[in-house]
Amino acid sequence: MRARGPRVVVLAGIAVAALAFGGFAAASAATVSGKLEIFSWWTAGGEADALQALYNVYQKQYPNVKIVNATVAGGAGTNAKAVLKTRMLGGDPPDSFQVHAGHELIDTWVKAGKMEPLTSLFASQGWQKVMPRGLIDILSYQGQIWSVPVDIHRANLLWYNKKVFASAGLQPPTTFDQFFKDADVLKAKGISGFVLGDKEGWESGHAFETVLIGTLGPDAYKGLWTGKTPWTGSGVAKALQTFKRMLTYANSDHAALTWDEAAQYIQSGKGGMQIMGDWEAGWFTSKNFADYGWVPAPGNQRIYDTLSDSFGLPKGSICARTDCSPAAFSPYQQWAMQQWPTNTIVPSVIHGAAASEGWSTEYIDAIGLFVTSGDIAATQTALQKACADAGVCK
Ligand code: GAL
Repeated sequence: MRARGPRVVVLAGIAVAALAFGGFAAASAATVSGKLEIFSWWTAGGEADALQALYNVYQKQYPNVKIVNATVAGGAGTNAKAVLKTRMLGGDPPDSFQVHAGHELIDTWVKAGKMEPLTSLFASQGWQKVMPRGLIDILSYQGQIWSVPVDIHRANLLWYNKKVFASAGLQPPTTFDQFFKDADVLKAKGISGFVLGDKEGWESGHAFETVLIGTLGPDAYKGLWTGKTPWTGSGVAKALQTFKRMLTYANSDHAALTWDEAAQYIQSGKGGMQIMGDWEAGWFTSKNFADYGWVPAPGNQRIYDTLSDSFGLPKGSICARTDCSPAAFSPYQQWAMQQWPTNTIVPSVIHGAAASEGWSTEYIDAIGLFVTSGDIAATQTALQKACADAGVCK
C-alpha cells in the first residue's frame, strides 16, 4: 500500500518535515506507514549522498514508512524528465519529485494543473520568513506557492586542481583572455585546458550559458529570456566565437563523458578548468578530493547564475533558507553564502529557471550542434527561432 491518500511531502534544507493533507494531520508520525516514492535524478557522487542523508532524517521521524528511491540517472534530469512526463501523463505520478524552480515547475506542471498548492504548508512552517523573496517568487503562480525549495545552486563556476595550477605557476582566470593564456600553458604541459564532458547534451549548453553571461553582462543576458536582447546580435556572436575557441582546448573524449566523469580529469590532474555548477563540490567531497579550487567563470564575477531544486539536502549547493548556520558548511559553501546576498542574480536556462522546457531543449540542441559545426550564423538563427517558438521573440 502506498502512502498516497495521506500524501507526505518531503523537504529539507536543514531538516525534513512531513505534511499531511486532510485527516492525516492528526496522525502521529510513528503510526504512519505505507510507501513513499521520491523521484529524482540524484545518482552521481554527492547527489546520491545528499538524497540518502535526506532519507535518513525522514526515516528517523517516520520509521514505518518505506521510502521508494525512484531515480533515473542523467545529469540535470536529462533522462528523468522524460520518464517523469510519461508517468505524470499516464496517471502514475510519484509521491514527490525533483523539479527546478522557475519555468520548469510553473510552465510544465503548475499551468497544466498537475500540482497541488503548498501555500498553507509554507504558512504553517513559516518558510516565507526564512527563504529569499526572489526564490519564493519563482515558485509562485496565481498567488499560490507550488514547490518546496531545498537548495540554491550556482551554475557559473570554474573548477580547477590547485596542485596543477600551483605547479604551472598559474592563477585561476577572471577574464576570457586569461583563460586562454592559462589554457595555452596547460596545453604545453599536455593538460587539456578546458575540461568538458558533454555526453548527455546539456553540459555544453551549461558552459555556454556562462560564456553568454560573461560576454553580455547580467542585464543583456536576462534580456535574452524576455526578448529584449536579440539572439542574432553581435553580443551572442561574440560569445559563440569565444566558446568555439574554448572548445579547441577541450579533452578529445568530451563527447563520451558525463559531467562527473569529466570531473575526474580535474581530480587526476589531467585536466585544467571545468565550467560546472556547484554540485561539483559535492562530487569532489564524495571522492574525498579536497585539492580543488573555484572561481566564477570568466567575466562572471559578482553575478550569481542561479537555480534551485525542490527537495534534498545541500550537496554543494547552499541552503535554501536564510537562517542556516554557515559553520555546518564547507569552505566553498561558506564562500557561496557570502556571495549570494551581494551578487546580481541571473537565472540559469539549462536548469529550468530562465525559460520554458521547450525553449531550453531547443537551446540545448542548438549549442550541441554548434559544438560540432562551429557555425555561428546558423546557431544564432536557431537560438532566435527557439525564442520565437516560445512566443517571447517575434
Ligand atoms: C542540476 C541539479 C543539481 C545537480 C545537477 C547535475 O540540474 O539542479 O542538483 O543534480 O543537475 O546532475
